Amino acid sequence: MVFTSSSQKKIIDIATDSKYEKYLYRCLGGPPSKHYKKRIEYLKQAILKGFHKKLLIFNGEVVGTIEYAPSEVSYYSISGDKIIVMNCIWVLRKAKGHNFGKFLVQDMIQSEKYASGFATIALENHWSPWFRKWQMEKLGYNPLEFVNVMHKTKGRAFSIHLMWMPNKPNTKPPTWNQQKLLEGITFCIAHPLYHPQTYKPNQILERH
Ligand SMILES: CC(C)(COP(=O)(O)OP(=O)(O)OC[C@H]1O[C@@H](n2cnc3c(N)ncnc32)[C@H](O)[C@@H]1OP(=O)(O)O)[C@@H](O)C(=O)NCCC(=O)NCCS
Repeated sequence: MVFTSSSQKKIIDIATDSKYEKYLYRCLGGPPSKHYKKRIEYLKQAILKGFHKKLLIFNGEVVGTIEYAPSEVSYYSISGDKIIVMNCIWVLRKAKGHNFGKFLVQDMIQSEKYASGFATIALENHWSPWFRKWQMEKLGYNPLEFVNVMHKTKGRAFSIHLMWMPNKPNTKPPTWNQQKLLEGITFCIAHPLYHPQTYKPNQILERH
């Protein structure tokens, strides 16, 4: 990708703009999952309750995304008063070096001014490159607590952190339901905490 002085960047909300509808069902890369029932069911109720997925378009090309929702309809079992949970953020490597991640987070903060704060998760020692704690810290989140877990099918241990960025002074930080978190994520097949439908036990993770 060539960056020029006339480079144009914009963020669009695809929860309300159907032009890029396919990205509601899939990641920026990887296989489309339009027919993934759990995702469709999730979106149906989450969009009504304040879910947003946004794309960062740079010189006409989709290079980044952020997905967030009020805690009640987020991926994670995080609770609190008026808390927005970031389900996911991703900026393609070919577009790195422009702080586009911060740009997406700032856009979320601007759009959700009423929020008492913003939460998400971060991982340490996970074998994938996803949700790395230092990256979430770079984006402005701070760690609150963590739980050490073992992935039951991979047999590998890692830790999950609850991350927090208050938006107002004297805000009560969020809490999380660690037991529920052990069930994993069903709404996104590319998520490092994904719980495949074919894995029947209730929990894909166990405390370690
Ligand atoms: C976190 C992320 C959004 C940041 O993307 P970005 O904004 O394009 O990142 P940039 O290259 O502009 O770098 C942002 C900052 O991180 C720093 N940084 C980048 N790579 C770094 C590295 N390897 N080590 C230390 N710092 C680094 C940059 O110096 C910059 O710092 P600054 O804010 O002080 O200037 C991006 O790395 C990403 O998408 N990561 C994966 C996120 C993820 O796991 N998603 C879940 C998918 S399932």
